[in-house]
Amino acid sequence: MLTSTKSILNKAQKGNYAVGAFNTNNLEITQAIIEAAVELKSPVIIQTSEGAIKYAGLEYIYAINRIASLSPVPVAIHLDHGKDLDLIKKCIDIGYTSIMIDGSSLEYKENIKITKKVVALAHKKGVSVEAELGAIAGIEDFVSVSQKDAAFTDPDQAAEFVKKTGCDSLAIAIGTSHGINKFTKEPKLELERLKEINKKVKIPLVLHGASEVDKRMLNIAKKYGAKLKNAKGVNDALMKKVVKLGVNKVNTDTDLRLAFDAGVREIIKTKPDVFDPRKILGPAKEYMKQIIKERIIVLGSRNKA
Ligand code: G3H
Ligand code: 13P
Ligand code: ZN
Repeated sequence: MLTSTKSILNKAQKGNYAVGAFNTNNLEITQAIIEAAVELKSPVIIQTSEGAIKYAGLEYIYAINRIASLSPVPVAIHLDHGKDLDLIKKCIDIGYTSIMIDGSSLEYKENIKITKKVVALAHKKGVSVEAELGAIAGIEDFVSVSQKDAAFTDPDQAAEFVKKTGCDSLAIAIGTSHGINKFTKEPKLELERLKEINKKVKIPLVLHGASEVDKRMLNIAKKYGAKLKNAKGVNDALMKKVVKLGVNKVNTDTDLRLAFDAGVREIIKTKPDVFDPRKILGPAKEYMKQIIKERIIVLGSRNKA
């Protein structure tokens, strides 16, 4: 059932688990997300980036996700990395249950200003707001400690930011990064920083750039021709630690892209006689579903519907 993001995340915060927020761009991805959540009786957040909306069309992708939300588990529909105010307003009007305002590339004061503005717009319609403070960039992106300190979320500043803006959840920077090239060595995150942020910030925390970069999917995709590096992401053990330390929403896109890519490439290469789109996209959907189920179990939201 369509459920407010705020109630899904507040429940997760009380229960000390995280809910997966999975990026969708089309029917098959949304089906994989919802089928996985229903099979594991888990709440779930379906999110679309501005790029996804541009690709699919707001009305089309919203309609698909809205139908998905008629399932027997709590489903929230979220705008990921909103930057365009017009699009944010459209998402609020059409029925999204939450939107993200990503002011992380702005000066601190400008980030506060735009976030406050969006909070006022959204709250009027009962829509909750995720904001972001700090640059989501991997630990390996920085050569010096001072560079890293400047980029990652400062716990005191985070507390002040939440108080000043009234946002409902906060995306933090502790060393994850978007995309497939995350860590070349063993994955490492600033867990002490997370602990401090969680002590000072009382609203649910969000982890972006949290894909695992699943080895099996990477290997299948590469076996059938993908040119991808052997990157590492946030593995299960590390994910369990961040959830224990207070993260309640975990964003995943790259792992779904990888599973989709692996599935499509495998069929095209191994079954050259297949040209029915359903037979090409069906196995890709099953791979994505498998990855989503594994993540839901690690986040601890199984049977929390
Ligand atoms: O955080 C970014 C997501 O992976 C969405 O990526 O803007 O290419 O849809 P996108
Ligand atoms: P990944 O690239 O690690 O999947 O992160 C996705 C994300 O943060 C979407 O907002
Ligand atoms: Zn993100």
